[in-house]
Amino acid sequence: MLLRNIPLFATLGDTELAQITAEASMRQFPKNKVIMSEGEKSDSLYTIVAGKVKVLISDEEGKEIILSMLGPGEFFGEMALFDNEPRSATVITMEPSTFNVISQGDFMRCVAGNPQIAKALLQALARRLREADRKISSLALMDVYGRVARTLLELAKDEQGKLVVRQNLSQQDIANMVGASREMVNRILKDLALGGYIEVESKYIIINEQLPRSL
Ligand code: CMP
Repeated sequence: MLLRNIPLFATLGDTELAQITAEASMRQFPKNKVIMSEGEKSDSLYTIVAGKVKVLISDEEGKEIILSMLGPGEFFGEMALFDNEPRSATVITMEPSTFNVISQGDFMRCVAGNPQIAKALLQALARRLREADRKISSLALMDVYGRVARTLLELAKDEQGKLVVRQNLSQQDIANMVGASREMVNRILKDLALGGYIEVESKYIIINEQLPRSL
C-alpha cells in the first residue's frame, strides 16, 4: 500500500507526499511482536501498510483487555505525539505486518503545513472515541453474553447474505475483547452453536440467525 492510499495522507500533494515518503521508514515485524508498550516514552507515528495489530491494556498478572484491532490504512502512536505523555496502551502485531514509521518532528511539520491532515486525524479520533464509548457502555451495562453477541455482530461482514466473522480470532482474543474469561466465552459460543445460532469453524464463525437477547 502506498502512502497515497492511506486515508491520513490521501489529501497531500505530490511534493508533500514525496517529502514524507523520504522522511518515513518502512519496517516489517513478525506476528506477536510488541511494537510499543503502555507507559513507554516514544516519538513515532505508525501507519499500517499491511497486517493487523491489537491495542490493549494489561495488568501485572498478564490479564488484558483489547481496546481495538487496527488494519491496513489505520495508524497508531499519535496520542503520545500530541500530548507528550507516555504511550497510553500496548500495541502487538496479530500477523506479520509492515508499518510506515514517521518521527514526531516530521509528522508535526506535515500536520502544521496541511490542515487536511489535522481534519483526517480528528475524524479518526472521533471514530475511536465513539467505539470506546460503545465499549464502556457494553462493559458497564451488558452481561458477558450480550458483550460476546455484540462483538461478533460488530466483527461480522456480509458474505453473500451470510454474516461471517473472518478475523481468525482465538477464544482468548474474544475473551480479551469482552473482558471475560476464556472458559466463559467458550461456554457461550458452545451454547450458541448448540442452539444453531452460529457455526464455529477453525478460521471463521458464521452467524446463522438473529442472536437471542439472552441465553
Ligand atoms: P499512543 O498513546 O501514542 O500509543 C498507544 C496507541 O494506541 C495510542 O497512541 C493510539 O494510537 C492507540 N490507542 C489507544 N487507545 C485506543 C483506542 N481506544 N482505540 C484505538 N486505538 C487506541
